[in-house]
Parts: sequence; structure tokens; C-alpha cells
Amino acid sequence: MRDAAWDAFVTRVRDASDILRVVSSYVPLKRKGSRYWACCPFHNEKTPSFSVTPDKGGLFYCFGCHAGGDIFKFISLIENVTYGEAIKLQAEKLGIPLPDERRSSAELARDQKIADMRKVMGMARDFFHSCLVNTPYGKPGLEYFAGRGIGKDIIDDFSLGFAPDSFDKLRNAFLKRGVPEKLLLECGLVKQRKSGAGTYDTFRGRVMIPIADERGRFVGFGGRVMDDSVPKYLNSPETMIFNKRKLLFGLDRAKKAIRDEGYVILVEGYMDAISVASAGVRNVVASLGTSFTIEHARLIMRYAPEIYFCYDSDEAGQKATIRALSIIRATGAKVKVLIVPDGKDPDEFIRKHGVDAFRELAKRALPVADYQIKYALAHNDIRTMDGKSNALHAIVPVLAAAQTVERMELVQELKRTLAIDEGIITQEISRYKGEPAENIQQGAPMRQAVRRIDDAVMRAGRVVVRQAWEDTGTLADIEARVPLDDFPVALHGEILKYLAKCERDGVPISESGAFEALSEDAASELSRILSETFAGGTAADLYDECAQKIYISYLKIRLEGHRIKADELQRAGEDFIGELEESNKIQKKINELERNEQQ
Ligand code: UTP
Ligand code: MN
Repeated sequence: MRDAAWDAFVTRVRDASDILRVVSSYVPLKRKGSRYWACCPFHNEKTPSFSVTPDKGGLFYCFGCHAGGDIFKFISLIENVTYGEAIKLQAEKLGIPLPDERRSSAELARDQKIADMRKVMGMARDFFHSCLVNTPYGKPGLEYFAGRGIGKDIIDDFSLGFAPDSFDKLRNAFLKRGVPEKLLLECGLVKQRKSGAGTYDTFRGRVMIPIADERGRFVGFGGRVMDDSVPKYLNSPETMIFNKRKLLFGLDRAKKAIRDEGYVILVEGYMDAISVASAGVRNVVASLGTSFTIEHARLIMRYAPEIYFCYDSDEAGQKATIRALSIIRATGAKVKVLIVPDGKDPDEFIRKHGVDAFRELAKRALPVADYQIKYALAHNDIRTMDGKSNALHAIVPVLAAAQTVERMELVQELKRTLAIDEGIITQEISRYKGEPAENIQQGAPMRQAVRRIDDAVMRAGRVVVRQAWEDTGTLADIEARVPLDDFPVALHGEILKYLAKCERDGVPISESGAFEALSEDAASELSRILSETFAGGTAADLYDECAQKIYISYLKIRLEGHRIKADELQRAGEDFIGELEESNKIQKKINELERNEQQ
């Protein structure tokens, strides 16, 4: 995909594009200084925090929802297409032809391969289904489904199947029908033997749940064991047509109901989706055991503006919900959280209490801000100063994203619950939104040292990343101080690792390459870093001081680690002197560095 002709094409499209023109065809821009501002098209707001910097190839960044990137990223977000598609869209608009013929013949071959794979996956679905319902092998599968209350109707409706407990049933059947072994491998239906030639069936002795893409084309399987062995679910490996980040189980069949209802219910498991849909609540989809991605959010938003999260209510499910919510904030989707009580999953709940009770839960789904606040308050000891501070920092992003009226109500509520000054809360919100310092009241009493360090480290990290971007020669110096895997701000570590990889592979560093390769959060952060003007000088001027700051922060994190370890060992009655010595050594080093810093 990424070859020289493509890169040249991307550069050509970029050079011919005017980011101001593109953005202002969606939202009106107003100039202030060197930047242009608008109300962000990706989240709801009344005062503009969405900025566009036309130089440096053109970048956008929203201080409210943290969406950011280059012109193609903007198009991809606003048009709901992939980054590559956005480039092509923009090229079409400008009348720039796609790169040479060779590429299109490569594309043709790729299209053919994808068509072949889809066909084989469809055959596999029929094979597994037929094993379940037409052959004696399927008996344990039918019994398993029956035990879960899944009868013939649902089996046929979802084309559920069974993979016989054999290493070659599917392989032999398909080879006999002329399917090339290579294609079976590419589909992930068989695996290469470790010793000796040949392949063996991937799925054995499992009930099979076929997974379709949103257009109903079968692209993968989830296979479940029928006892307690692990892994409980074996999924198809990632293939050209099976990308878990972009697929939602059940979307093909739920589409219409999602449009009609105006919202989608998102559950964690296949079985939950099957159970909920079969009970008659059809606007349900499941993510495939991976965390929720921004691609998922966008996929859903093609059909409805609102998502009801219905993850398991255990601790892991709550964590996953909170994480997903922070991802979703960048998309402007409306979100509610549907809480299933007693730690049950939706499937168990419906089997026990019936579908009407489930509909009742949906009616009482919590608005996202309420849920997040509830979560933060429940997970911090708000009787302590630290607990209050942590809870507040967890809640601030939620408040910042809320509409004004709602925000005012939430601030009042929080003021009462946490028993802290309203000024502190509003100040933290301003700070989070990156509003200029003069808007922030000085000298709030609860401002904590920890938090101050955080801000300084964040800023120092940005300088370091910017300098590394401008001169990759800097990377060696950074790595000599701090291993990139342990970078204090993980997002910065991710960007630096990407730069180091480009450097290693001899790949020229480009914005399009970076925005494509980085996670959504890291890409936004990079966009912010590249459009920032640092107070006090250029990144090169500030680099030494900032790199040192990062080094100290890294040492402090390690120090904390050794102290905790020493503490644990001591409590367990084990030898903790080594850990203590190590932490003393680090403490000394920190003292020394901080002395130098002050001079
Ligand atoms: P759960 O462990 O919550 O399973 O995993 P479940 O949906 O309740 O399944 P049942 O009711 O026991 O059959 C939720 C989802 O995580 C993925 C699957 O997509 C599953 O539906 N998962 C789970 C895996 O991919 N692999 C596993 O080993 C376990
Ligand atoms: Mn379950």
C-alpha cells in the first residue's frame, strides 16, 4: 500500500489542498492571531475550542474533545471514512488522478483475493452449520445450545454451527472441493503445522458463531468451548477481511432497528447480542472481545447518534466502559450507560428476569456524565484529600465535555459531594480545556504538588517530542536517559517509539505516516504538539531543560516502584533491604539533579 508512488501522490494532494478551505466548508472559521477558530464539529460546544493552523502542512486540534490531525484526518473524521479513503476523496475533488496503473492492477488482484476469501468464509459458515444440524458430530453442540436455551430458530437465524473435534475435517472437505490450501490459511481456517508439512483445522470441538460485516458478508468466526477450558472463545485471526477494530457483531441485522430506535445497545459478548436480539430487542451489537475503538463509534454513528453501553457490570466491565467512554467523547456521539444489576451479563439477566425487565433497564440508562461521576466517586476515598483530588481529575474531562447548563448542575452537585470550593472545580475545567492562564484564578488552596508536577511533565514531554520530530538525532539522547517504554507520559512514549522505528527502518518521517500509524489519542496529542508555540523559546532552546525534567520524573516513578516493592516485602516478612537501597540510590540521584536544576 505504502510505496513511493503513493507517497508522492499523497504529497501532491496535500500540497494542492487548502485546509482552511476544506474546514470552512463544514464550519465557519474565525481568525485570531496565527490560528483559526470554530465551534468543534466533533463535539457539542458553544464557545470555539476547535483550532486550525494553516502552516506546517495544515493541522487541526480541538482543545475540548482533543480530536486532532492533518487535513486528511479531518476529512476522515467528518466524512466517516478511513484515512486512505479521505486522501482519495480529496484527490477526486481536486481532479488529481490516483497513482499509476500498476497500483490499480495490484488493487484488482487484491479485490479478487478478498472476493475469494469471502466466498470461502461463506462456505465455512455453511460447513459448520451443516455439521451442527445435519451430522452426528453436531450432537454435543446441539446439547450445549439447548442447555443455554438456544433452540432451532435461533440456530438457523444466526447460522450457528459446530466445528467437529478433528484436525482435518474442514481441511479435507475444502481441499476436495478445490479450495487452495493457501487460501484456507489466509482465511485463518487452517494453521500451518509446526513440524512437517501441511495444515490442520483451526477450530476444533467448538460451537461456532459466524461473524458478518455490516453488509452481511461473513468474514470471521468466534468458536466457544463447551466446558471450562481456555481460551473460552477462539476468534478468527486478523485477516484482510477480518479486522476486529472495525467490526461489530450483529450490525448487519441490527441496522434497521438501530435507525428506527435512534440508538444502539452495545454489549460485550456474542452470546449477549444473540440473546438480546432473539428476545426481540433488535438494536443490539457486540464488540468482539477487543476494546471499543473510535472506528466502532463511527460505524455506529452512521446509523444512529446515540450509544447505550451495556458492558458486564463487574470491575473489568466498568473499567472497559470508562475507557470506551473517553474514546467516544472525541466523536460527539451521545452516550448512556445501561447497568445490568448483580454482576450479571445481559444474556444471564434476560434468561432470569425476562426481556421486559431488560427494556426497563434500558429506559433507566444513566447519562454518561452521571455514570462517570458515580464511578469516580465510588472508586476514590473522597474523605481524604488525595481521594478528592483524584476523583476531581477523573471527572473534569466529563464536565468539560458537558453542555453549559448540565455542567453547572453537575458542578453544584460535585461541590456538595466533595465539599470543595466551586472555584477549584471551574478552574480545573478551564485548565483541562487548555484555556489561557489569565482565565484561571491563581492560588487555589487545594492545588496539589503532584498535579503541578504532572502539568510540568506534560509540557516538558511535548517539547521533547517536538524536538525529536524536528531532529530525530535527538532520539538517542532521549533513550539514553529514559527507556521509551517507560516514558512518563505514555502517549509521548508512543510517538517517540514510532519516530525511533521510522529511523530504524529508514522510513522518512511524515505527518500522514504518523497519523495513520499512531493510536487515536497519540495522533491527537501529536497534532497538538506540532501546532504549539512554546512559551520561552523554540523546542531546541527548551530541550535540555525539558529532557532533564522528564528524566527526573522517570526516576520518581521508578523510586515509587521500589518503595512499594520494599513495603510489600516488608509486610510479607521478606528481605526488603535490596529494594530500599535501590530506592535510596535513586532518591540521591534525584536530589542531585534537582539541586542542579535550581542553580
Ligand atoms: P465473556 O467472558 O464476558 O463471555 O467475554 P460471555 O460473552 O459472557 O460468554 P458466555 O456467555 O460465557 O458464552 C465477552 C467477549 O469477549 C470475547 C468474546 O468476544 C466474548 O463474547 N472473548 C472472551 C474472547 O474473545 N476470548 C475469550 O477467551 C473470552
Ligand atoms: Mn455470558
